[in-house]
Amino acid sequence: MPLKKSVDVKPASGKLGILMPGMGAVATTFIAGVIAIRKGIGKPIGSLTQMGHIRIGKRTDGNSPAIKDYVSLANLDDIVFGGWDIFTDNAYQAAMRAGVLDEHKHLNPIKAELEAIKPMTAVFEQKYVKKLTGPNVKTGTSKMHLAEQLMEDIKQFKATNGCDRLIAVWCGSTEVYRQPTEVHASLAAFEAGLRASHDDIAPSQMYAYACLKMGVPYANGAPNLSVDTPALLELARKQNLPVTGKDFKTGQTLMKTILAPGFKARMLGLAGWYSTNILGNRDGEVLDDPESFKSKEVSKLGVIDHILQPELYPDLYGNISHVVRINYYPPRGDNKEGWDNIDIFGWLGYPMQIKVDFLCRDSILAAPIVLDLALFMDFAHRAGMSGVQEWLSFYWKSPMTPEGLYPEHDLFIQLMKLKNTLRYTKGDELITHLGAEYYD
Ligand SMILES: NC(=O)c1ccc[n+]([C@@H]2O[C@H](COP(=O)([O-])OP(=O)(O)OC[C@H]3O[C@@H](n4cnc5c(N)ncnc54)[C@H](O)[C@@H]3O)[C@@H](O)[C@H]2O)c1
Repeated sequence: MPLKKSVDVKPASGKLGILMPGMGAVATTFIAGVIAIRKGIGKPIGSLTQMGHIRIGKRTDGNSPAIKDYVSLANLDDIVFGGWDIFTDNAYQAAMRAGVLDEHKHLNPIKAELEAIKPMTAVFEQKYVKKLTGPNVKTGTSKMHLAEQLMEDIKQFKATNGCDRLIAVWCGSTEVYRQPTEVHASLAAFEAGLRASHDDIAPSQMYAYACLKMGVPYANGAPNLSVDTPALLELARKQNLPVTGKDFKTGQTLMKTILAPGFKARMLGLAGWYSTNILGNRDGEVLDDPESFKSKEVSKLGVIDHILQPELYPDLYGNISHVVRINYYPPRGDNKEGWDNIDIFGWLGYPMQIKVDFLCRDSILAAPIVLDLALFMDFAHRAGMSGVQEWLSFYWKSPMTPEGLYPEHDLFIQLMKLKNTLRYTKGDELITHLGAEYYD
């Protein structure tokens, strides 16, 4: 990570700018939500940094402070928002278009603040997001030239808004599925590739590069590679910056990482897991392209195998049919419906079925994750933690890990890891749940 014990964390003084490439449903639900919460017209439900507590010491000590009082996190009043989009809509227009938050209850009371947040011109390449075209796009002589323009945007944003620190969270569309190639193998190859406008460098990678060059920690909310390449990880290490990703864990995958650990704990077998979704927002439209869907599918499919460890339990998990489908269905807007049919088996192999029908709201689940990631990444940066932040796996469908290390997907292991990381940075005892001390 590298993780530091009992570290002196620099104070969260001054303003924290949160920069989002992509100002669509998730970003505007997050921005409007934070502004509404500041004004007392809503509560930060779903946010661990705002609502969570952490136990310190023994169960008998009665010491469970709020996480935000235990570690130094930026205050919601000190946050400033910015971002880029290929459309010119300001945050009010984009939030209205996304149709997630209620116009009268949540958007109109903060209309002026939202209208003041206007997207900067984006770096975009159609072949990476086939279903969208927009007017608010930069032109440049090379991909390096485009990245330099992003760096200039970041500098200007910081100065204009008087920010002390910046954090970036990619909330842009899911780009088409790509594996890393030789241009991603090292920072030198990547920079040469930027100068030569190499085809394999995606727009999200230009944002990640620009942010890291400008000293801005980077989190990737989509499943495409973005910062998850050797070249950009090398840059993060060189700049001593934390990075994290990929793909916000919100609806159906959240359910999987809650249920699958339970089946495994009880040594119940799994024959198949069929997941299908209908959603009608712009994200759904983008994912209607098979190549963007492929990025999402890979991210969603990885979860079960890592949790169930078929290599250790071939009788229980050696032959699972795992299918994931996403269907674009406009009438639903952001209110996704995710169905799961789970075929499990028990004693002597007798089959049973579980059906889950999750009528969720995608961006309502994603917004608090954006907030937590921004605050925890800012904390990590002030605590001198750099490179891949595995303790933030809790938030991801496809957590980044160092090469050769499999990711932890079990939500409860992830939460324990997150809280123990916070305890470790404070120099407090880690909680192992052994409990032997109560019987001494
Ligand atoms: N909502 C969820 O529950 C959820 C969960 C996991 C991941 N995600 C991911 O988060 C991302 C955002 O989701 P959303 O629902 O807000 O989608 P959205 O379509 O509403 O917003 C994405 C925005 O990104 C913009 N964009 C695309 N390429 C860009 C570029 N190169 N530069 C700047 N802007 C660009 C689009 O114009 C759009 O406004 C998607 O990648 C999605 O897959 C969402």
